Amino acid sequence: MPIRPATADAIADAAAALREGRLVAFPTETVYGLGADATNARAVAAIFEAKGRPRFNPLISHVADAEDAARFAVLGPEATALAAAFWPGALTLVLNKRGDCPIADLATAGLDTVALRVPSHPVARALIRAADRPIAAPSANRSGHVSPTTAAHVDADLGGNVALILDDGPCAIGLESTVVDVSGDKPALLRAGGVTREAIEAVLGVSLALHTDEADRPSSPGQLASHYAPRATVRLNAIEPGPGEALLAFGPTAPAHSGPSMNLSPTGDLIEAATNLFAALRQLDASGAATITVMPIPETGLGEAINDRLRRAAVR
Ligand code: TXA
Ligand code: MG
Repeated sequence: MPIRPATADAIADAAAALREGRLVAFPTETVYGLGADATNARAVAAIFEAKGRPRFNPLISHVADAEDAARFAVLGPEATALAAAFWPGALTLVLNKRGDCPIADLATAGLDTVALRVPSHPVARALIRAADRPIAAPSANRSGHVSPTTAAHVDADLGGNVALILDDGPCAIGLESTVVDVSGDKPALLRAGGVTREAIEAVLGVSLALHTDEADRPSSPGQLASHYAPRATVRLNAIEPGPGEALLAFGPTAPAHSGPSMNLSPTGDLIEAATNLFAALRQLDASGAATITVMPIPETGLGEAINDRLRRAAVR
C-alpha cells in the first residue's frame, strides 16, 4: 500500500522521491495531485503515462509563493494583484515564462507560457519546500475518471504508479483550481474552479474574457490559443524526407538524411520520445526548413499523445 499519513517523515520521503524523478501523489485544498519534478522531462512524461492521457495538455506547476513564481515567470500588474488576493489558494495563473525558466517543455506543452499555482494546503506547501523545486501536478486520477478528493481514490486509480500517496484526509474544496490567463492583453478565464469569476473580476476591476479550455474543444485544434504550433508545415507518417525537409525520426530504422534531423528516441522508447518531442519540434522549426517530415510513431502508450500533438501541429 503506497498510502502514508502525511507526517514530516513521509513528506521528506516524498520530496526525496520527487527529486529522484519518481511520482508522488499529495493533497491540495482542491483535489489530490499527481506530482513530478517539473524540471525533469522524464518525470513529467511519467505523469502522462500513468494517467493514460491521450494528449499532452500543459500542466500546472505548483510553487511555494509569489516570489518563487517570479523566478519562473513574469508577473505583471494583474498577476501581482491576483497573487496578492488569492495565493495561497485555488487560483492558477497562466504567465509568460522567463527565458531561463527550468520547467520542462513537456510540462508546458511547448508553450511560451506556464501555469503556476501556490496551493494553501499545508502538506502541499511543505512538500514543495522540501523538494525545493516546482512540482507539476494534474489531478491524480486516470484520464476520464473523476478527480480524486481522498487518498483512497488515488490509490484505486494510480496506486501502482506512484512512489507514495501522502494522505491528509479529504480535500476541502473538492473542485480544481480556477485557471486565469494573464499572459496577454486581456485577462481570460480558461477554467472555472475553486475561486469564483466574480471574486477575480472584483480584484481586477474588469470582466474576464472566456476562453474555453483546450480539453473542451478537441475538434478545432488549429485555433487553440494553448497549442504550440511550429511555423513549418508538418508532414506525418512519412517513410523518407524529401530534399531540404527536416526529419523528425523515431526508432532504430531512421533513414539517413543530409538535412536537419532529430531522432525522438533511437531505441524506440516512447517515454524518451515524449521527453524530447517539443524541444525537437522547436529545433527543427528553427532550422528554417519549410517542412518537418515525421516518421510513423506507434499509436500505443504515450504514442497516442505524441501522435495527437503531431496531428495538431500538422493542421494549419
Ligand atoms: O486544482 C488543481 O488545479 C489541480 C491540483 C492538483 O492542483 N491541478 C490540476 O492540474 O487540475 P492540471 O494540470 O490538470 O490543470 C491544467 C489546466 C488545464 O485546464 C490546462 O489547459 C491549463 O491548466 N493550462 C496549463 N498550462 C497552461 C498554459 N500554458 N496555457 C493555457 N492553459 C494552461
Ligand atoms: Mg483532472
